Amino acid sequence: MRKEVKDMEQASQLPKNRIGRSVRLMFRWMGKNWPLMILSFVFLYLITYLRTIVPLFGQHIIDVILKFSDKGSKLPAYLQDLITGDTVPKQLLMAAILLVSLEFIRSVMIFFRRMATALFSEKVAYRLRNNLYRQLQNMGYTFHSHAETGDIIQRCTTDVEAYRFFIGDQIVEIARLTMLVGMTIWRMSQLNTTLTWISLVITPIILTIAIIYFRKVERMFQTIEANEAKMTTHVQENVSGARVVKAFANEAYEVEKFRRLNRTFTDSDFNFVKKMSLFWSSTDLICFMQFCLIGVVGVVYASKGIISIGVYTAFLAYAGNIIWPMRQLGRLMGDFSKATVAVYRLDHILDQKDEYVEANGNQTPDIFGNVRFENVSFRFADSTYHQLGNISFDVNKGETIAIIGKTGSGKSTLMNLLVRLLEYQEGTIYVDGTPITDIEKHHLRKNIGIILQEPFLFSKTVEENIGIADSELLGDRVREVAKIAAIHDDIVHFEQGYNTLVGERGVTLSGGQKQRVAIARMLLKPKPILIFDDSLSAVDTETDIQIRSALKKEWKHSTVFIITHRITTAKEADRIFVIDKGTIRESGSHDTLIRQNGLYKTIWDIQSKIDFQVEGGEDHE
Ligand SMILES: Nc1ncnc2c1ncn2[C@@H]1O[C@H](COP(=O)(O)OP(=O)(O)OP(=O)(O)O)[C@@H](O)[C@H]1O
Ligand SMILES: [Mg+2]
Repeated sequence: MRKEVKDMEQASQLPKNRIGRSVRLMFRWMGKNWPLMILSFVFLYLITYLRTIVPLFGQHIIDVILKFSDKGSKLPAYLQDLITGDTVPKQLLMAAILLVSLEFIRSVMIFFRRMATALFSEKVAYRLRNNLYRQLQNMGYTFHSHAETGDIIQRCTTDVEAYRFFIGDQIVEIARLTMLVGMTIWRMSQLNTTLTWISLVITPIILTIAIIYFRKVERMFQTIEANEAKMTTHVQENVSGARVVKAFANEAYEVEKFRRLNRTFTDSDFNFVKKMSLFWSSTDLICFMQFCLIGVVGVVYASKGIISIGVYTAFLAYAGNIIWPMRQLGRLMGDFSKATVAVYRLDHILDQKDEYVEANGNQTPDIFGNVRFENVSFRFADSTYHQLGNISFDVNKGETIAIIGKTGSGKSTLMNLLVRLLEYQEGTIYVDGTPITDIEKHHLRKNIGIILQEPFLFSKTVEENIGIADSELLGDRVREVAKIAAIHDDIVHFEQGYNTLVGERGVTLSGGQKQRVAIARMLLKPKPILIFDDSLSAVDTETDIQIRSALKKEWKHSTVFIITHRITTAKEADRIFVIDKGTIRESGSHDTLIRQNGLYKTIWDIQSKIDFQVEGGEDHE
């Protein structure tokens, strides 16, 4: 898991072979949509072909129709044949009509080319977003407990957009410019070879500058992305944790911290713009020099009669077709690098292990609720010691087990192993005799209800939050479980009852109410094994007892694990496991443990004393 985290971090330290891999991925993600791209390329070819013909009309008009020189027309013969007429005005009119018609055809094609490209890129982005989301859903608990939300959100939005923009607009633009430059050079060479060479003199300089620039931009873009991700994460965390910030009167500090992150981001962005401006201005000058060169040499050639006036004007028009696109190509190389960074970052999500593919069992046995841990040990990958060591126990169907122990002793970890949110390294956990690693994860989790220590409520109504596991069970069943979880009375007192909207992270509910909604949610469907991870800590003792007795009635056949810090809750259980530093120190019924006079007895004594003082009355013993 630590590896996954490192992978996420390293996404910004790009390896050398990234470009090749990114290009392969770019094509792979296109899936079956590539015919649309081919279609837009075909349009593109035709559009460019027509565009490079336009300057030849000028040459034809000047040299043939107006007879400024006796050089023949360079227009393709099939077009020359269409420009007929017995007078110059008629021929000019025909040429104009033909030119406008060709331009009309070209604009229609441009429309269809754009449609094809947009359809293509939107389809690919749609598919990619769905894949990313599916992947995020299927990635293990460990990944999610380490990944930064802001960073993931940025990858799923900005990076997807950078990729979409590249395959939608920029690839086409690169193809368009390459075709335009290629065809133009070919047409120029038909007119005059030497002048063609002269027109290309400066291109290597522009390309070299572009390549140097391309390298610089790549590194800068990486920095900008990383800085933006930091900023997004900060905002996201502070919005979610607004209450904590307020409680500690930490607003000024957070604002200052954001200001610093914002400054770093702005500086890196500005630095990028500065380099951009330098690129544009310097290449502008070079392009202009190239233009002058063609102009001057062209005039000399025309005055010596080496080329006609018509050819000269065509050359000037063609010069624009290669000089500016060359520079544009340089810019696109920068964008290409942006896109490869984005693709690389996205691949780091798509490339993560899918927990349902990588480490899944294939059995779906009937689950009754017998649980057996056999010498189970577990260690977090980034930890130097075992969080759980050599745990063994047997729990029979229908038993209620209380788990108590100091904070950090490993109680939550123990239960997370049972639902395979975490994977143990040694030993075996059996559910009804089948090792849980052989059981299909969905099947296992459908049979074990767990209320996590930190319940999360979605931005939906209370009813939907309870019925989240099965939207078909809304209505009466929701009310039933709400009663068991002792939350029904609270809900009906809300102005909108079950339709009350629960804000992000349930801000409108109290901690205890949230816990009870989470309990109700779990009870929606009968489950042979139930786990309450400190789920009653925020409700008062009376409600706790009320919930547990309702549970006992409803779910008497289920095996129940209750992690608790409240000794009176533990007392009611059939057996109690006392966890200490990742091992089960004591286990047995309340009476047995009291007799043993160990850790449990100590906790009991301390809590009884506190309760005694609080209630100002009778002791528990
Ligand atoms: N993702 C993690 N990576 C590394 N160590 C972790 C991780 N989660 C928990 N730990 C460590 O594992 C140990 C056991 O944690 P666990 O959450 O199981 O404690 P707990 O008994 O449930 O405590 P509490 O009563 O406070 O809920 C702790 O020392 C904790 O710091
Ligand atoms: Mg815990």
